Amino acid sequence: MAYKDVYASWQSDPEGFWMKAAEEIDWVQKPSKALWDDNAPLYDWYRDGLVNGCYNAVDRHVEAGNGERTAIIYDSPVTHTKHEISYAELQNRVAGLAGALRAKGVEKGDRVIIYMPMVPEALEAMLACARIGAVHSVVFGGFAAHELAVRIDDCKPKAIIAASCGIEPGRVVHYKPLLDGAIEQSQHKPDFCVIFQREQEVAKLEEGRDYDWHAFQYGVEPAECVPVEGDHPAYILYTSGTTGQPKGVIRATAGHLVALKWTMTNIYDTQPGDVFWAASDVGWVVGHSYICYGPLINGSTAIVFEGKPVGTPDAGTFWRVISEHKVKSFFTAPTAFRAIKRDDPKGEYARKYDLSGLRALYLAGERADPDTINWAADLLKVPVIDHWWQTETGWAIAANPLGIEELPIKVGSPSVAMPGYDVQILDEAGHQMKPGELGAIAIKLPLPPGTLPNLWQAEERFKKSYLNTFPGYYETGDAGMIDEDGYLYIMARTDDVINVAGHRLSTGAMEEVLASHPDVAECAVIGVTDELKGQLPLGFVCLTTGVNRPHDEITKECVKLVRDQVGPVAAFKLAVVVDRLPKTRSGKILRATMVKIADNAEFKMPATIDDPAILDEIKEALQTLGYAKS
Ligand code: COA
Ligand code: AMP
Repeated sequence: MAYKDVYASWQSDPEGFWMKAAEEIDWVQKPSKALWDDNAPLYDWYRDGLVNGCYNAVDRHVEAGNGERTAIIYDSPVTHTKHEISYAELQNRVAGLAGALRAKGVEKGDRVIIYMPMVPEALEAMLACARIGAVHSVVFGGFAAHELAVRIDDCKPKAIIAASCGIEPGRVVHYKPLLDGAIEQSQHKPDFCVIFQREQEVAKLEEGRDYDWHAFQYGVEPAECVPVEGDHPAYILYTSGTTGQPKGVIRATAGHLVALKWTMTNIYDTQPGDVFWAASDVGWVVGHSYICYGPLINGSTAIVFEGKPVGTPDAGTFWRVISEHKVKSFFTAPTAFRAIKRDDPKGEYARKYDLSGLRALYLAGERADPDTINWAADLLKVPVIDHWWQTETGWAIAANPLGIEELPIKVGSPSVAMPGYDVQILDEAGHQMKPGELGAIAIKLPLPPGTLPNLWQAEERFKKSYLNTFPGYYETGDAGMIDEDGYLYIMARTDDVINVAGHRLSTGAMEEVLASHPDVAECAVIGVTDELKGQLPLGFVCLTTGVNRPHDEITKECVKLVRDQVGPVAAFKLAVVVDRLPKTRSGKILRATMVKIADNAEFKMPATIDDPAILDEIKEALQTLGYAKS
């Protein structure tokens, strides 16, 4: 079948389409129907089915006689370690950990935070939660204690599973003091913590609260898979919104399993036994869907890579991993390729390796610029597939579905809408726009299985963030257009979210931190264009009257404050003192105008600007940081 026929078959019978897709999952009790719309505009999928995520990712492959197949390949250039875990071993490890969690009182529905680097134990922790119906919430290791504390207070975990340390090039990330600091700051306290002690650093355990990963499992009864309802939350993943309070995206179990399995076949063209590598991190949605659950549900082999595209040890690392482990499908963020291209513009490292097993390269997480796509396509001689999605959706909204049909690639476009997504471009009043016209990208409700049904204990915020602007639609927060052939183009965010090296960050969160500096009266953070990382945050601060300390002292403190509060991943290194911020007459800060000035882009003077002269001051300030040069 051609893509257009598959899409049309979904359009004409969505219920039939998703019930058929559900046959690829093993159910304890099959659902009587796919969509539950009794609570519209909130929707559930497969609500009355009974299922287990871990069973589908692990046990069913062992029961089918594939226990010896490799489930996970761990490749860690930063620790010089490699090893493989079969499906049968994974089942034992996960059942043991799940049994130990249960023995300490973790039950179906309890939340468990996982704060770990890229080690297989992170996936085991996720699967152990899924096994007993506990709801995991993985927190990315590059976030600081404060961010962890915010998440602890929001999802109120019974337990936290952490590693003693992470390894970044040139430094050890001490997870344990960050964890201790977060628990100290948070109102909610977990009952206990489980610490995976790594060879590179043994952390001090707190008597009565912390348990060693191995000792904790000694002698416990392994846990069996606990059936959960289709709408039972598999996990909560926090993502950046407009404010400092992150949004707890819920992933419901059954839809997540069905959708991921569908994508493994139809988008990624990956069969059981194939090696699938997503070079991301378990702390992000890509890590949830395509390092852990997608490949494992599919019976494929997942790679857990602990390293960077460059510097661990060189720009050939990706090619080594692809050739050594016979990777068929490779997924990463465009930034990684920009970093490799910068170090090895002629692609000489790639030529040293046999990359003939690679079928395609998938890019997502940020805009894929044509230069990067063309460079990668020339180098690898495989289709380079840009695809567009979000933490909220959990899988691609738009893609080129190689497993169905390879559509012509239009560089600069993540191709076409996937079945389940009726993507439309709307104007401010919610009217559909014509092909080629720029507007807000919205998706007609209901969203398909696997997408967020709600935010964790924040239904009003869910409605306000996504449903209220365009009644009957989900508002993606992205702006763009659709061409005559139905290809989508993603141009910009419509909110204050920025994308730094494929990491989604909130400028609002950084502003809250800057505003807490005693000398700062007012501030604004914007995202400026960066050749490597796509965007970088840049902060303007106005000082409290009477403060006359040297400005560079204050900006250094601001940089440190954001690193300490949000974390190194924010990459907040640019800050400048200004007298005033440009505003509208009603007091709204003109962030978009400042972005245009910084990037030397054309802009129209906002009609509502209070005092246009301030823009000259902003330009001068930006020039001191090397921006707004023309
Ligand atoms: N734990 C702790 N710190 C982390 C971290 C983690 N898991 N991940 C990143 N950091 C730190 C980095 O060490 C760096 O700290 P520094 O300021 O002390 O140098 C900071 O956060 C910024 O990290 P990053 O944005 O990754 O930049 P980098 O300069 O270390 O590396 C690239 C640049 C391009 C190589 C890197 O960004 C990259 O691999 N990008 C791929 C993007 C990606 O996988 N995105 C996931 C979404 S699909
Ligand atoms: P995240 O939730 O971290 O996956 O970030 C989602 C956001 O990243 C989207 O809303 C887009 O702004 C951006 N994004 C993701 N993939 C793409 C893509 N292929 N092209 C352009 N922007 C993208």
